[in-house]
Amino acid sequence: MRIRTLEDYTTAYRKSVETPERFWEEVAETFSWHKKWDTVLDYSFEDYSVKWFEGAKFNITENCLDRHLLTQGDKKALIWEPNSPEEEAIEFTYKQLHEKVCQFANVLKSNGIEKGDRVVLYMPMIPELAIGVLACARLGAVHSVVFAGFSSSALADRINDAQAKIVLSSDGNFRGKRIFDVKKVVDEALENCPSIEKQIVLKRTNSEVTMKEGRDIWWNEEAKKADTFCPATIIDAEDPLFILYTSGSTGKPKGVVHHAGGYMVYTKYSFENVFQLRDDDVYWCTADIGWITGHSYIVYAPLLAGSTTLMFEGVPTFPDAGRFWEVVDKYKVSIFYTAPTAIRALQAKGLEFVNKYDLSSIRVLGTVGEPINEEAWDWYHQHIGKGNCPIVDTWWQTETGGIMISNMAGVTPNKATFATLPLPGIQPVLLDAEGNEIEGNNVEGNLCIKYPWPSILRTTYGDHERCKQAYFSTYRGYYFTGDGCKRDHDGMYRILGRVDDVINVSGHRMGTAEVEDAINQHEDVIESAIVGYPHEIKGQGIYAFVICDENSTKSKEELQKEILQTVSQHIGAIAKPEKIQIVSGLPKTRSGKIMRRILRKIAEGDVSNLGDTSTLLDPEVVNEIKEGAGL
Ligand code: PRX
Repeated sequence: MRIRTLEDYTTAYRKSVETPERFWEEVAETFSWHKKWDTVLDYSFEDYSVKWFEGAKFNITENCLDRHLLTQGDKKALIWEPNSPEEEAIEFTYKQLHEKVCQFANVLKSNGIEKGDRVVLYMPMIPELAIGVLACARLGAVHSVVFAGFSSSALADRINDAQAKIVLSSDGNFRGKRIFDVKKVVDEALENCPSIEKQIVLKRTNSEVTMKEGRDIWWNEEAKKADTFCPATIIDAEDPLFILYTSGSTGKPKGVVHHAGGYMVYTKYSFENVFQLRDDDVYWCTADIGWITGHSYIVYAPLLAGSTTLMFEGVPTFPDAGRFWEVVDKYKVSIFYTAPTAIRALQAKGLEFVNKYDLSSIRVLGTVGEPINEEAWDWYHQHIGKGNCPIVDTWWQTETGGIMISNMAGVTPNKATFATLPLPGIQPVLLDAEGNEIEGNNVEGNLCIKYPWPSILRTTYGDHERCKQAYFSTYRGYYFTGDGCKRDHDGMYRILGRVDDVINVSGHRMGTAEVEDAINQHEDVIESAIVGYPHEIKGQGIYAFVICDENSTKSKEELQKEILQTVSQHIGAIAKPEKIQIVSGLPKTRSGKIMRRILRKIAEGDVSNLGDTSTLLDPEVVNEIKEGAGL
């Protein structure tokens, strides 16, 4: 099943389109199942439903851990590098990781967790986060990791939507020079989360915390009492594995649901082939497990593939901007996978931080999360890859579960700023506004996928209608990605960015409505509109246009500062606008719709062509906003 040459790729791709079921069945045969499937695929994109490998019985953790014990139990499964280089790293062999996962699964079990129950994890990037995720999967419980930078109210919303029974947390979180009070955020959230019965707290920073009697218990004390073997709960391929909340174009984040069987098959297949994995690779993905990249390509795929995965607690610039390269050198990392925003930030710090370290172990580089600009690609290629490592530009989404369009390292061609070609099993099409497929090359359109792949999302938690609306209603019969895309003269795909109301800030998705709702929580705010604008490091920054109460006694500066605090409180610091412009009105059509196109142009600083503004309710407001922006 492994693709090693361009010819293998062409053959596999053709087969995956001509006989998709046969193709995926052969891939699925390479996993451990207690019972194989009755049907490979049953689906409808019209009335959305997808089932892969229905009737199959298995447990994903047996594939991640148990199956490796006999052949490579002593191989390193997980290397954990702490925030501070002064602190000792921790390594787990497959045998040790298996024990830790089993032990914590027993803790969850003794605290009442059963198959199908939801467990929320709000934790730093420490091994226990991965262990917690896998322990849930061991029991067939559904994990929902919430990035530990979200605010207590964002956390509470997610816990309540998932109706989680247990939340896993830590006392604190080290990030660079700072310590964050993780438990305080969770405690605040839990004031409004009636479904939570227990909070299991890991000691990480030794920060002072208060433990609520009957609800809060210590991770290590519980683990000490638990056995280090736990039989895996056998589940169906179509049982849910996890929920991961992500922003869409409407207000409330969606709980994207992935089911276990197809997710397992696709993530491992894509991982091995895109990165051209070898047995002795040390693989490092710098994402946080709070995002899909961390789920699929820090935890599940590398372990399914029996590889060595590195997990890093810290940030790229602490103690200095050489931290990533120091870690690469220390562990002789051979595959390095990061985001364009990190590349740009480190590029700006200069080469002295790079050149101090030996990066000759790197064989493959990867990028994900947002379009990579040519300068960043060149820098990555020349200075990190020393001109001789392929860069895989992997396009995919929370909803797709795994990498969809990407070159395969050294096998299919690189092309700077292009994700290049679809993986076997993925059938991308470009559609025009009327929903017609745009044929041929050298064209642009909205990127859709016309056939299911095993790790496509199954639903949005608790609201299947929303899933249908968001992904399958814009173009009937297709999965709509929300991205604009170009297919060049060679048939290579280049992602152009979102075409919906989603802004991609440092590779993190923000819904405009979600951020506006947060801004509007400020008592002096009447209305707001946010748009994305090009940002040198973050890819896109958030520009907020805000109408405040005329009678407010606060100064402009005070209001701006407080609005930032409000956004931090309601979503988290990651959603804070870069720029806030207080305005007296917003450009609206006569039907009351905000003309974001105009605001986008102003935010970009380009007012040369604002288009027709005569249909606006109050065309004068545009001049006022332009002036306010100094244009
Ligand atoms: O716009 C695309 C962008 O990130 C979006 C998905 O975001 P999220 O669900 O948070 O997942 C990010 C990590 C998989 C996409 O709709 N995106 C992701 N990868 C790329 C990309 N844009 C361009 N090139 C990429 N390689």
